[in-house]
Amino acid sequence: MNRYAHVTGWGIAVPEEILTNEKLAQIVETNDEWIVSRTGIRERRIARKDETTATLAADAACKALDRTDIDARDLDLIIVATSSPEHLFPATACLVQDNIGAVHAGAFDLSAACTGFIFGLNMAAQAIRTGSIQNALVIGSETLSRMVDWDDRTTCILFGDGAGAFVLQGSDEPGGVLSCVMRSDGSGGDLLSVPAGGSKLPTSHETVDRKQHLIQMNGREVFRFATRVMASATRETAEQAGWEVDDIDFVIPHQANQRIIESAARGLRLPLDKFVVNLERYGNTSTASIPLAMVEALDEGRIHDGANLVLVGFGAGLTWGALSMRWVEPKVRVTELDRRRRSLVTLLARFRSFLRRVQRRIEGLIWGAAARGQED
Ligand code: ACO
Repeated sequence: MNRYAHVTGWGIAVPEEILTNEKLAQIVETNDEWIVSRTGIRERRIARKDETTATLAADAACKALDRTDIDARDLDLIIVATSSPEHLFPATACLVQDNIGAVHAGAFDLSAACTGFIFGLNMAAQAIRTGSIQNALVIGSETLSRMVDWDDRTTCILFGDGAGAFVLQGSDEPGGVLSCVMRSDGSGGDLLSVPAGGSKLPTSHETVDRKQHLIQMNGREVFRFATRVMASATRETAEQAGWEVDDIDFVIPHQANQRIIESAARGLRLPLDKFVVNLERYGNTSTASIPLAMVEALDEGRIHDGANLVLVGFGAGLTWGALSMRWVEPKVRVTELDRRRRSLVTLLARFRSFLRRVQRRIEGLIWGAAARGQED
């Protein structure tokens, strides 16, 4: 019997604070007319001090789980795709795992810039399809506002914060993730990067003075690359799924720039209304942009049962990819009791996390004393 990987839960989390183009024009020399005509973006969300990539991710994850009949303890795998992880390590995914109480899940971060959510979905879907796992959580989460140079008008106008999460579950019902194209070209790595803070250029006063810990981008080159790969990757994944391009009901593209999306539509000879676009309200949220767009389209009832979807993205690396999916409406009826049970699991997870920390402290003291005793 074939196994299929279906999206059964979905959720998003965005900060409340809105930064409009008008407000941006008070920070750098720009204006609403330039930003809208060159990018399509009107506003973006900016995380509060106490909001981080992990808290937004956990919030989106809880909302996604709320639509399913499982809770965090049933998850086998958590992948957080992010370009703004909380730390180099530990992985943001582990912080989410602890926060939501996914006590049986392996958790890791996936670094493929804005293409990360597509790569992550494919990895999780393949693990489900081979029968190695049953339930996975894939999250795209970002607080890029913390890595943007707020003096650089060519980048700071583009990016925003937010998170989106999908729960994937295995089933015998045909559909779900059908095919995926994953590509990269490291020769273009310098076109879009955060050069310092890693092992090559560890953070120093000098790297900070040179702003090498912030996003640096050659916008024109990235634009040219993006317009080239969006249509080709979409075509390729559709073909692998056994579809003609015309069979695609909706394309959910990475929300980087309205002009890039329009160029992809022209290249594919598809009407623009088949493209799900919400970048005017969120800007480029990197790994979160595709789930943010898709979840809003689902919640608006735009995506019907049986729809053929292509998720397509590109980003630093360079990376690009496209994933085809037949949308099958989940049949689960979530009861109030399910919701209460899940809230309890989350509450207990936080208490459990606290107890584990205390336990580790006590063990450390005991072992430390024992080791000192042996030395004496
Ligand atoms: N406001 C006003 N003027 C501006 C601004 C601004 N915010 N930014 C640049 N300009 C000026 C430039 O200085 C330039 O002036 P000049 O002609 O006097 O030198 C002029 O506008 C044109 O600049 P370009 O860089 O040619 O503008 P372009 O049309 O290429 O648009 C943009 C720039 C929006 C960045 C575009 O190149 C783009 O979207 N590139 C793709 C970027 C992208 O998608 N990155 C994310 C990748 S995904 C990831 O991995 C995170």
